[in-house]
Amino acid sequence: MAAVDLIVRNIGQLVTLEGPSGPRAGPAQKELAIVRRGAVAAVDGRIVAVGTEGEVTEAIESTPDTLVLDAGGAVVTPGFVDPHTHAVFARTREDEFAMRVEGKSYEEIAEAGGGIRSSVRSLRAASADDLLTRGRATLDRMLTHGTTTAEVKSGYGLSLEAELKTLRVIDTLARTHDVDVVPTFLGAHEFPDEWRDDRDGYVVHVADEMIPAVAGEGLAKFCDVFCEEGVFTFEQSRRILLAGVDAGLAPKIHADELHASGGAELAAMVGAVSADHLVCVSDDGIVKLAEAGVVAVLLPGTTLSLGKTEFARARAMIEAGVPVALATDCNPGSSMTESMQIIVSLASMMLRMTPAEAITAATVNAAAAVGLDGEIGTLAPGKLCDLVIWEVDDHRAIPYHYGVNLATSVVKRGRVVRGHPDGRKTPGPAPAH
Ligand code: NIG
Ligand code: FE
Repeated sequence: MAAVDLIVRNIGQLVTLEGPSGPRAGPAQKELAIVRRGAVAAVDGRIVAVGTEGEVTEAIESTPDTLVLDAGGAVVTPGFVDPHTHAVFARTREDEFAMRVEGKSYEEIAEAGGGIRSSVRSLRAASADDLLTRGRATLDRMLTHGTTTAEVKSGYGLSLEAELKTLRVIDTLARTHDVDVVPTFLGAHEFPDEWRDDRDGYVVHVADEMIPAVAGEGLAKFCDVFCEEGVFTFEQSRRILLAGVDAGLAPKIHADELHASGGAELAAMVGAVSADHLVCVSDDGIVKLAEAGVVAVLLPGTTLSLGKTEFARARAMIEAGVPVALATDCNPGSSMTESMQIIVSLASMMLRMTPAEAITAATVNAAAAVGLDGEIGTLAPGKLCDLVIWEVDDHRAIPYHYGVNLATSVVKRGRVVRGHPDGRKTPGPAPAH
């Protein structure tokens, strides 16, 4: 065995999630494969050994150059994966937030010209440099809170030129930021003002002009669509997703967020990698997701931020055998957070997912929702060494202790990118709870 360049040792609970490949559904969603008194070793950014300290020490060779991180008895998990974000935008929308608090609905604000179309106006006017600076700051906050991979969608451009501008910014972030970025084309996020009287014409424009241009430049891995009453119909969504498939972009769907719109059924029909939101999904839609192996990406931060009280039926999905993932939906309109930690807390508190199910949803199942479960999402030999040392000594405290940042050290591709190079910043276990 070659000498390793990183060892993380003295891990109280090492949450490996080792198990069969692919997303975890049903009872398997709560199997974390925890190793007590564990260690992880890596070379060139990839894990080479995982197990008890004794097993790892036996298996590897270290040199004076090997960085040894002492986790101080804390919990270590794979880095969080955020599989649904709109993290590149030009302006925040706290004005709309305040209006919602005073009683206006998200749909009313959108109808009056606010919402996504307001973000379209500001993004079109912004320079790529400004978008890049803001996008970098957003990814910085994600990393600080333990997210090591994030999907980022376009969808505030809604013209070929502005969508390409956005996707090129996303591409620059992907190449230059420590967070690994997965790009998604969302030209069908809303109808832009200039196409509002010819909606089918815009669908043809997205399918026949935007998708080939985006795919031709290699700027997206996925194609997404907002299938919703008042936005893209089932048929329009299908047309766009199939055009994406033809161009090599795998489908994702904003499905059944505000109304039951057949989004889950469409996801199953086109073989989508994920169906996202699903607050209003039908019982039949849940069965279809399970049969087709589509990952359900739930976004409880959006429900909370929109002031709604009906959350997605995570328990029904898990019981039906749908693999459930979680995401922030980080965006200026309906969910302004970069923290997967608060989402994991909301999943336990509002979706009644156990802490173990929520951690699976934020790691291996989230990785599957962006087609990367072969690379990230579990701590196993061969995978990228993306991990977080948490300021807790029991994994259940990650959703339990909420509204603060519990990530003390973040390791991305084997490098300490956040926190103290010697692991925990506080000596000894976190305060008793
Ligand atoms: O996922 N639902 C559509 N898109 C976003 C909201 C975007 C916005 O309001 O800017 C979402 O919630
Ligand atoms: Fe979204």
